[in-house]
Amino acid sequence: MNSILRALREARELTPRYVGIICASVLIAATSLLTPYLTKLATDEVVAQVGGGGRGLGMLVWIAVGLLVVELANTVLSNVGGYLGDTMAMRLRAILSSRYYSKLLGLPQRYFDTQLTGTVINRLHRSITEITQFLQTFSNNFFPTLITVGAVLVIAGSYYWPLALLLFIVYPLFTWLTALTSRRWQKLEHEKNAELDLAGGRFAEVIGQIRVVKSFVRERQELAAFDDHYRAAVATTHRQSHWWHLMDVARRGSLNVIFFGIYIIIFWRTAAGAFTLGDMVMLLQMIALARTPVMMMSYLVDSSQHAIAGSRSYFEVMDELPEPRATIGEVRSPDLDAPAGAEAAASLPVPPARGWDAAGPAFAFEDVSFGYGEDCVLKRISFAVARGERIALVSESGGGKTTLVNLLMGLYRPDAGTILIGGVDTATMPLDQVRSLIGVVFQDASLFSGTIAENITYGHPGASASAMEKAATRANVHEFVAKLREGYASQIGERGLKLSGGQKQRIAVARAMLKDAPILVLDEATSALDSRSERLVQAGLDELMADRTSLIIAHRLSTISTVDRIITLRDGRIDEIGTPDELATSGGIYAELLALQAAGTKRDRRRLQRFDITA
Ligand SMILES: Nc1ncnc2c1ncn2[C@@H]1O[C@H](COP(=O)(O)OP(=O)(O)O)[C@@H](O)[C@H]1O
Ligand SMILES: [Mg+2]
Repeated sequence: MNSILRALREARELTPRYVGIICASVLIAATSLLTPYLTKLATDEVVAQVGGGGRGLGMLVWIAVGLLVVELANTVLSNVGGYLGDTMAMRLRAILSSRYYSKLLGLPQRYFDTQLTGTVINRLHRSITEITQFLQTFSNNFFPTLITVGAVLVIAGSYYWPLALLLFIVYPLFTWLTALTSRRWQKLEHEKNAELDLAGGRFAEVIGQIRVVKSFVRERQELAAFDDHYRAAVATTHRQSHWWHLMDVARRGSLNVIFFGIYIIIFWRTAAGAFTLGDMVMLLQMIALARTPVMMMSYLVDSSQHAIAGSRSYFEVMDELPEPRATIGEVRSPDLDAPAGAEAAASLPVPPARGWDAAGPAFAFEDVSFGYGEDCVLKRISFAVARGERIALVSESGGGKTTLVNLLMGLYRPDAGTILIGGVDTATMPLDQVRSLIGVVFQDASLFSGTIAENITYGHPGASASAMEKAATRANVHEFVAKLREGYASQIGERGLKLSGGQKQRIAVARAMLKDAPILVLDEATSALDSRSERLVQAGLDELMADRTSLIIAHRLSTISTVDRIITLRDGRIDEIGTPDELATSGGIYAELLALQAAGTKRDRRRLQRFDITA
């Protein structure tokens, strides 16, 4: 329950709505209680008139009008309450979702290393839906029924206390029996969800890589495995539903017995003259009013259990520690009443890069050590790169080249040592400033769905069309975009799947070009491409590297031979640093690679591959 209260506290700005809903509930309950009372007046009046007395037909008309007014008011109020409940739930959902998203965006890379994308998304969906659905049902139904039940108990008690006592027993008894049923039901629900999650997870994976499935002719097996999960879910549902309905017979059976007692009392007291006919009609109506909440109660117990579980997994994520100096620091609530786009516009300007104007090398590692876990990947790395210098990293596959790039971008923090950019210790710079100084092209283009123009301007949304086209031309994007019917407005599909690998990579180069950061990092930017695409992309990269400090991880010795200096890594340490000419004759890794390439036998080529180098 605590976690649900916490969810409500998270969205404190909704307090006026919570109050509005409670007020509406009180009024709804009051108006629905007036109906039995007016029917009682009418019945007593009719009985009196049949007996020759009473106050005449006019009185009955007035009571009928009273009934109309009360019922109309009830109709309007329930809809006002419903409106408040719906909008409160959606706002709560928007607030909780936005906070979850902003929390995730601010978590360190390490967190994502251990989480499946599907899990992160499912958790958001399931837990938030469960919390908001519960609160919506709760606010729309719980308060009105609670107040009704309270009033019915008081009124019934004022007529004859055993009536109230019997009614009073019903609620805890029914709730207790429901909780008893619910435990096993929940366990089965959990089993069922596990099967559905497995089926759903695989489903998404298969559809996402449908080409592989088709080429290995695995459609039948994939479908059969999917059906198996659903078969298991159906079997579990049989057991679950059987149990639930069996227990429901017991629960409602006992309820029927108690109501039997209540009816007996009402009939007997009326026949004995203790209640008027009107009293009897009113009490019967009120008992009927009190009956619905009993059913409601079991539903609420049930959905509250879901919501408690949901909010627990929500807060598990919310309690993760954010990246220090994160771009999105504290988790904040969205301004739901601002016009669309206002927040994005307000947060546009990237802060000016402090430190870059200081003197000193473009960037430097000083005695940096790092490991993802226990094992050290990089040990006591020290080097400095001058402004405008091009430097290449060479190591065996898995030797720590990408890790070094990750550290430079502040995706992970070094275990020891200092990384400086423009002479400033990056540990003292906000991460968005660190990253605003670095442009990256990865092996995988990593585009987003949307248009080509949107992808090129991803790091610079305010760029003019001419600046965008200039970058595109220099990156050799323009040549193929010109042939597309919709040009830069063409949609590229999920992760750019409508484009070839070379086209995607050239867009990634244009994107880095438009960012115009002083430091450029190329991590195997061309190694996933065929040789024609590679030449086109390489031409773009050469443009991009002009006048920039570049850190290059390349898969061709020809590319590596054009840099100013090479750093070779061996066993996580720097083996050598020097110009290509120096290292060619020093007998180190680079010299060995050159020799292997020159020899060109099959065995040598295999050896080259261990260095991520293509002959
Ligand atoms: N996110 C990660 N979590 C744990 N270990 C990792 C992670 N990324 C890389 N590694 C490990 O760190 C080592 C260096 O990897 P990497 O820097 O990617 O090498 P390279 O880019 O030189 O091929 C490898 O042994 C790899 O298995
Ligand atoms: Mg790598």
